[in-house]
Amino acid sequence: MTDGDGRTADQLVIFGITGDLARKMTFRALYRLERRALLNCPILGVASDDITVEALIERARDAIGEHEQIDAAVFDRLAGRLSYLHGDVTDAALYRALAEQIGTDRSTLFYLEMPPSLFAPIVENLGQAGLLTRSRVAIEKPFGYDLASARELNGRLRAVLDEDQILRVDHFLGKQPVLELEYLRFANTTLAELWDRRSIAEIHITMAENFGVEDRGKFYDAVGALRDVVQNHLLQVLALVAMEPPVGPGADDLNDKKAEVFRAMSALDPKHYVRGQYRGYADVAGVAAGSQTETFVAMRMEIENWRWAGVPIFLRAGKALPERVTEVRLFTHRVPALGFMPQREHADRNQIVLRIDPDPGMRLQLVAQGGDSWQNVHLDSSFAQDLGEPVLPYENLLHAGLIGDRQLFAREDAIEETWRIVQPLLDTPGEVHPYEPGSWGPAAVEELVRGRRSWQQPWLPDRA
Ligand code: BG6
Repeated sequence: MTDGDGRTADQLVIFGITGDLARKMTFRALYRLERRALLNCPILGVASDDITVEALIERARDAIGEHEQIDAAVFDRLAGRLSYLHGDVTDAALYRALAEQIGTDRSTLFYLEMPPSLFAPIVENLGQAGLLTRSRVAIEKPFGYDLASARELNGRLRAVLDEDQILRVDHFLGKQPVLELEYLRFANTTLAELWDRRSIAEIHITMAENFGVEDRGKFYDAVGALRDVVQNHLLQVLALVAMEPPVGPGADDLNDKKAEVFRAMSALDPKHYVRGQYRGYADVAGVAAGSQTETFVAMRMEIENWRWAGVPIFLRAGKALPERVTEVRLFTHRVPALGFMPQREHADRNQIVLRIDPDPGMRLQLVAQGGDSWQNVHLDSSFAQDLGEPVLPYENLLHAGLIGDRQLFAREDAIEETWRIVQPLLDTPGEVHPYEPGSWGPAAVEELVRGRRSWQQPWLPDRA
């Protein structure tokens, strides 16, 4: 769906093309788009490294070759689109050179894979050089550091761009199972009818990573788990889990419904917030001595609207946990004790699980009578098996950016609402509890769910 200006970009300019994100994600996504015949425009890379375009092409080949069997014809087509401009992104001269090279009357997608402190200066420079009239700008996260900085950044961007020219990237919005949520929920009566406080008692969201902060100590220490994955990725997922059906196919139809979810949420209460730090984190290069940054968070939240009032939502996210798995789990209410059963034992609640990573899929947990007791049985779908290999998140996002589909990007009001929601936890973070790497976080996390469903072992893919 394209709305907003509805124009397909006629060129792509990537700031930071020699950086980490390009190496890990962008080149591969571009290659896959090329393979699917979805790339139609030249690509100009901009960065400070003084390298030739040939060297850039070799970097692209290495990066793509790490994950893909390279088809020479596809790669050559991609390489043929690439050019390179090096310079200092804070220097107006670079933008004059850029304007000369790409022209000011084109529909350009500028993709900023840059440190956040440079977002506004780059956009302002692009504006001054007359490069923004018909263009869009995609901006990587983090979008702000708290509510005040997000507002300030928005203000600076909006001084030179309209809202529909700004694409705020959250790569979770490009993940196939996250996109699938809208369809699963509203194209299936069975799910649609269950999906509210009358049937659902509780929601758990888990994002577990079985590795530490690795070589990102300096970046991570200034950020922490709450800012790194909750304010953005997990709240975006929650909005898709909880929203009302969009009334039309436009990006604003979807984004209106997501924003309503956030508007119905109170700012979070530090009393229902647990922070943890894995043992050994302080020794990671780049981490400050005595750092109080959290590598694990768990919290309780609620959506105070007609559909969800009274349904607690528990969310946990952390590094150095036992598994890498991200899932959303909904628990139904219990059925009454069944009079026809010899023992009047309650059957377990049903559970609906959407696994986002790895091996995206959906599981329905039902209860059956196995032998002389209740047994849980599972109806599982692995999306890769049932729907085919998914398109990669960055493939979805780059394509959406190029054709001007804003559904996959976060809107300004949603970003500000999510910062408002987490702000008390930033202001009053509370103590950070140590936990063992390879555990499910600090013991305090059990307190959070006392009297409710305990944390469940996530649904893991078959490792057979
Ligand atoms: C990033 C965070 O946004 O998302 C990382 O900065 C995190 O800390 C990553 O590891 C997780 O993304 P994915 O797609 O691997 O689940």
